[in-house]
Amino acid sequence: MKLFGRTAAPTRAPCCSSISKASARPLSVRVLGAAAPATMVEPASIAELSRAEQLGKDQDAVRATVKEYYGETLKTSNDLRTSACTACKAPPPAVRAALADVPTEVKEKFYGCGNPIPAGIEGLRVLDLGCGSGRDCYVAAKLVGEKGSVTGVDMTPAQLEVAISHADAYCRDKLGYGKSNMTFIQGEIEYLDRAGLEDSSFDLVISNCVINLSPDKARVLSECYRVLAPGGEMHFSDVYVDRRLPQSVRSHPVLLGECLAGALYNNDFIRLCRKVGFTDPRQLECEEIQIHDAELRDQVGEARFYSITYRLFKVPGQIEDLCEDYGQVAVYKGTIPGHSHAYDLDDHHRFVTNKPMLVCGNTASMVGESWLAPHFTIIGDRAVHYGQFDCSGPKTTTGGAASPSNSAGACGPGGACC
Ligand SMILES: C[S@@+](CC[C@H](N)C(=O)[O-])C[C@H]1O[C@@H](n2cnc3c(N)ncnc32)[C@H](O)[C@@H]1O
Repeated sequence: MKLFGRTAAPTRAPCCSSISKASARPLSVRVLGAAAPATMVEPASIAELSRAEQLGKDQDAVRATVKEYYGETLKTSNDLRTSACTACKAPPPAVRAALADVPTEVKEKFYGCGNPIPAGIEGLRVLDLGCGSGRDCYVAAKLVGEKGSVTGVDMTPAQLEVAISHADAYCRDKLGYGKSNMTFIQGEIEYLDRAGLEDSSFDLVISNCVINLSPDKARVLSECYRVLAPGGEMHFSDVYVDRRLPQSVRSHPVLLGECLAGALYNNDFIRLCRKVGFTDPRQLECEEIQIHDAELRDQVGEARFYSITYRLFKVPGQIEDLCEDYGQVAVYKGTIPGHSHAYDLDDHHRFVTNKPMLVCGNTASMVGESWLAPHFTIIGDRAVHYGQFDCSGPKTTTGGAASPSNSAGACGPGGACC
């Protein structure tokens, strides 16, 4: 193949993997200014899942339990009884550097389980779902720069008060901005519309250990799809489990607060993603969660829990349910800060700088038609179809743990389309 005036043999990429009346009261609100989701028959498991999600109570009761846990029970992350909410790997260097300037009180109330902030986000409009005391918002505020913006949504006033109290001084004194680029809104992540968030108004949705706590995860995902602009991405870390949990576990208040009882069976999560339009979820990192508390360990039995970071791209009309081969080649330019030599799109796509790589149509769209597009060159289009893309391939990252999707017999490393 003739590329860039030289003969190059592209490497072949392995393929992919009761409505609450509660408030959406704005505390410091700046209202920011979809293609048809994929249609599919609803599997019985989704309906089962929705029923199980009620935890034997109504949705308001679930939210009240969670609000009490994060607003009153926990004072700092030292009060947690499992490692589930803090099962993070070391953050990447840019995040570590940014954390040095984040106020101590904000960091002490951090209950995340992963690293949901991707590199290269300068200028983006970021939404943090369940921002808590705001640690990830503060980091993102620095990484997006003064022209970018960060909006945090959370339903627990005690958490938001911490986030709001330091925001102006942090942006002015630590970041040197003329005014804060952060906005915090009290609201429920299932009802971003009530929080005043408009269609297609964000480039990136992040979230850290929150969606497991929601009694209506399908609604959370569909709201994310709605508020993302075309080419936007939902990049988030959360807790998943390798089986559907029994009601006795799902209704346990401490296990709920600790982000375990509400964890989705990974395959059900993938089904939900497809249902709302995120047709090809890509797994980036996976870490098994250890439950050291003997009583809680006994409650969950054989179930194994994982902190997983997923990437869900909104490229309307372009992401298919299976990976297809159109002979397209993607070349990473080496331009994402901190990734001059290579870039991991997910756990099985490592793009080496300037090295042409054959990719499926989905991957070509994810890197070529999303916010990542300035960093990639795509050669070819979908004019000719060469059949299904070969989905086999090694993982590129060394997460160690076998994730629930890997063991679930999905067709590829990411457990999604391939
Ligand atoms: C485990 S903490 C994580 C907080 C933050 N992302 C962090 O990393 O520190 C979960 C947070 O999600 C919020 N939350 C849970 N369910 C929510 C919902 N349905 N709507 C809005 N916020 C919610 C809680 O108030 C809490 O602050």
